[in-house]
Amino acid sequence: MAEDTPDLRHLPKPDAYAQLAEAVDAVLAGVDDPVAAMATVSCLVHHAFGHLWTGFYRVVEPDRLLRVGPYQGTLGCLEIAFGKGVCGTAAAERRTVVVEDVHAFPGHIACDARSRSEIVVPVTDRSGALIAVFDVDSERPATFDDDDRRGLERLLTRFAR
Ligand code: SME
Repeated sequence: MAEDTPDLRHLPKPDAYAQLAEAVDAVLAGVDDPVAAMATVSCLVHHAFGHLWTGFYRVVEPDRLLRVGPYQGTLGCLEIAFGKGVCGTAAAERRTVVVEDVHAFPGHIACDARSRSEIVVPVTDRSGALIAVFDVDSERPATFDDDDRRGLERLLTRFAR
């Protein structure tokens, strides 16, 4: 395989996300497999920015339960109920949630005590059904902004194609 795992921290975020989208497309060309796609997206996003934890929680019981999927980082919580924590909130409300300070988010679930800020993006399939959320955690406060929201939401549209 010719693709590498780039570190994109030297780039402005919109450029980094554009490169990431190209890298994901190149790695997954011709492969229609959501698990392979989740693993690839987790790996490339994690290493592009040097995040603390990057990965998917899959919907295993619609409107009730998320279970961990492909990820990079330290051990993640196994299951999260809809409505609980940042992931469960994003799943229940089907919207991206950006948290500048996890200590100020009521009900935040701390899988890794080093986590300080977080973004969680809903993932839908081509029928529009929620299949997962994508969770990225950082050791630094206020890591994520509108550029991350836009970049990640666009990257994750591949699950709806
Ligand atoms: N912080 C998340 C839980 C998942 S992990 O941090 C990997 C939350 O509150 O949803």
